[in-house]
Amino acid sequence: MSAPGRSQALMPKPFKGEGTPVSGVLQSSADGQVAMNIHKTAARALLVLAALVGPALAWSADAPEASASAAVAAAASAPAAASAPASRASQQGTEYTEKGADTCNECHDAESSDNNWQYAAIFHGKHGQRNNPRAPFGPGGLQCEACHGPGAHHAGKGYSKKLSINSFKPDSHYSVEYRNQACLACHENQNRNAWHTGAHERAGLACTDCHKIHQERDKVRERATQAQVCEGCHKQQRADFDRPSAHPVRQGRLVCTDCHQPHGTSNPSMLVGATINQTCYSCHAEKRGPLLWEHAPVAEDCTLCHRAHGSVRPTLLVQSQPLLCQQCHSVAGHPSVARTAAGLPGGAAGPSVFLLAGACTNCHTQVHGSNHPSGSKLLR
Ligand code: HEC
Ligand code: HEC
Ligand code: HEC
Ligand code: HEC
Ligand code: HEC
Ligand code: HEC
Ligand code: HEC
Ligand code: HEC
Ligand code: HEC
Ligand code: HEC
Repeated sequence: MSAPGRSQALMPKPFKGEGTPVSGVLQSSADGQVAMNIHKTAARALLVLAALVGPALAWSADAPEASASAAVAAAASAPAAASAPASRASQQGTEYTEKGADTCNECHDAESSDNNWQYAAIFHGKHGQRNNPRAPFGPGGLQCEACHGPGAHHAGKGYSKKLSINSFKPDSHYSVEYRNQACLACHENQNRNAWHTGAHERAGLACTDCHKIHQERDKVRERATQAQVCEGCHKQQRADFDRPSAHPVRQGRLVCTDCHQPHGTSNPSMLVGATINQTCYSCHAEKRGPLLWEHAPVAEDCTLCHRAHGSVRPTLLVQSQPLLCQQCHSVAGHPSVARTAAGLPGGAAGPSVFLLAGACTNCHTQVHGSNHPSGSKLLR
């Protein structure tokens, strides 16, 4: 799988007309290993800087209770906004518009809607709530500028329209961290949604790589369309779920987030459960036991025998029988040689036909463990 340009996106882009030392370093690192290292170091330094000032950028949280104009005035003079790194946001300034959305709507309205941006959508979703003080359009909210940042320069004359606003788009002059911070200002403290350290944060994903804020449907949050969004980057997993035996994601019975927490967790593979097995048990509870006769690998890790997503073999198995079992049960004991009858109880004349048919589980039916008093050999 690949996410082109991700690591580049982490680096603040230098842009024309900026003569700061930092972007100077970035621009002059044209060739050579040494230049590369400087490049990386500079980028790291900026990341640290971004992390330090990040929390201060929570402009929208400043005055949730105040009236709209008071909030605008207070936020406009807040030192927080002033600390936006000058080398990246030179033209945004710190002043909010006086009339909020009404000003924006003078130029951005239903007429300017297109496939990616629908004027009405923001008012129909939860962000458009009028009575929720935590919502951008709630009492005292900064409306459009709660997300896009101070917009007076942008709405006025004399500034580049692009460099004077946080567009959240991949070509934005703001770093991913900075853009995400605008969302996290309101969403960080919600446990279910917190952007924990996980593969997505490490890979420098933006909230807006998955979420569409200005569309009627946020595909990633709808069960019918979620996999399309994830598989846009995860091509290997798209192939997995097209295999003959697969968890029924294609049938719409499961979604990726039944098993994964896309915002990250400290669990392996960002699973919803603390371990692979805990995740499986959430739906296949009968496999959890406790059982009188356990089969050791089952309690250890389901993926010793099953693929989590899909397999060319039946029942999501990683390997065909008898090889599946002979990964571990090889030399000693009766089934020591694959596909010969000699080693079986009863010898070549016995019921070895089962083994030749390849299925240890024809006899050992209780492969996940047994509750039968005499089920120690997983035969019943
Ligand atoms: C006077 C007209 C005008 C007003 C008022 C205005 N904008 Fe814009 N805005 C523009 C134009 C023109 C563009 C297109 C710039 C381009 O694509 O080069 C734009 C682009 C944008 C973009 C995308 C920038 C990008 O990089 O693609 C955002 C986001 C935006 N405006 C938000 C706002 C918000 C929020 C407000 C209110 C605070 C607002 N605008 C008020 C004219 C305006
Ligand atoms: C909850 C946060 C949020 C609020 C509130 C918000 N926006 Fe946006 N806006 C975004 C995001 C995120 C994008 C990037 C869209 C994308 O990923 O394609 C965006 C993009 C835009 C664009 C660029 C569209 C394009 O494709 O070039 C414009 C213009 C814009 N917003 C205007 C507004 C206006 C006007 C308002 C107020 C009526 C507003 N926004 C309120 C988050 C927000
Ligand atoms: C000013 C605060 C604020 C900002 C900034 C903000 N949000 Fe929200 N967002 C909210 C509130 C409030 C809700 C509704 C939550 C609820 O009702 O429980 C919400 C809901 C959502 C939802 C769920 C929508 C739904 O319909 O259930 C998503 C997804 C979301 N926000 C993503 C984002 C992203 C991405 C950004 C940054 C581009 C962002 N938000 C910026 C306040 C904000
Ligand atoms: C890899 C894709 C992805 C990324 C990146 C992502 N989200 Fe989400 N987000 C989702 C999915 C999928 C859901 C729906 C989860 C569910 O239904 O269990 C969701 C749900 C949400 C919700 C609504 C939760 C609710 O209770 O309904 C909010 C708010 C939200 N995300 C905010 C954010 C913010 C803020 C960021 C960036 C810091 C972000 N997301 C980044 C995929 C993503
Ligand atoms: C039934 C639960 C389940 C569902 C549904 C599921 N996954 Fe997974 N996924 C797992 C488990 C378990 C692992 C860890 C596998 C391992 O370590 O062998 C995993 C691993 C991954 C990995 C890490 C690389 C890999 O393949 O090991 C990615 C990426 C991934 N899943 C993406 C997705 C996407 C995208 C979807 C939806 C299209 C999805 N998953 C649906 C359970 C699931
Ligand atoms: C914009 C591209 C992009 C989108 C969209 C995306 N991912 Fe990822 N995902 C990545 C990258 C990059 C990584 C880290 C590199 C890797 O593991 O291959 C990753 C890693 C993962 C992992 C592995 C976690 C680990 O610890 O190994 C899982 C699981 C995963 N993503 C699930 C999802 C799910 C579920 C969705 C949809 C809700 C999704 N991804 C959407 C880019 C994306
Ligand atoms: C969110 C619920 C859910 C989780 C979590 C889950 N499964 Fe499943 N599993 C299903 C559903 C639904 C089916 C399809 C059952 C059916 O078709 O009747 C299924 C079927 C299976 C099958 C049988 C497939 C076949 O072709 O007969 C196996 C094996 C399996 N799951 C193993 C696992 C493993 C291993 C895990 C943990 C990595 C896991 N499941 C996690 C819901 C889940
Ligand atoms: C030692 C290998 C092995 C391990 C480990 C294992 N399974 Fe299986 N599982 C199998 C085999 C083999 C089959 C097919 C049985 C058959 O064809 O009769 C199967 C079938 C299944 C089925 C579909 C039939 C049924 O019994 O419902 C599910 C669901 C399943 N396994 C879930 C799990 C879960 C969950 C785990 C982890 C707790 C797990 N398996 C661990 C070998 C294993
Ligand atoms: C990942 C390794 C692994 C795989 C794969 C595996 N097993 Fe096992 N199996 C074990 C271990 C470990 C034990 C416990 C041995 C012990 O207690 O001495 C065990 C025990 C058994 C027992 C009971 C043995 C006794 O002496 O009580 C049977 C029967 C068995 N396995 C059959 C199977 C079959 C059939 C398969 C294939 C469907 C299989 N195993 C796949 C590791 C595995
Ligand atoms: C024809 C039925 C049959 C088939 C097929 C079969 N077994 Fe067995 N297996 C048995 C019986 C019966 C026992 C119990 C022997 C005893 O109690 O002494 C046994 C015992 C075992 C044991 C316990 C250790 C031992 O030697 O007593 C293991 C492990 C085992 N089988 C694994 C396998 C594997 C792996 C396969 C597939 C390659 C397999 N069996 C195929 C009938 C079968």
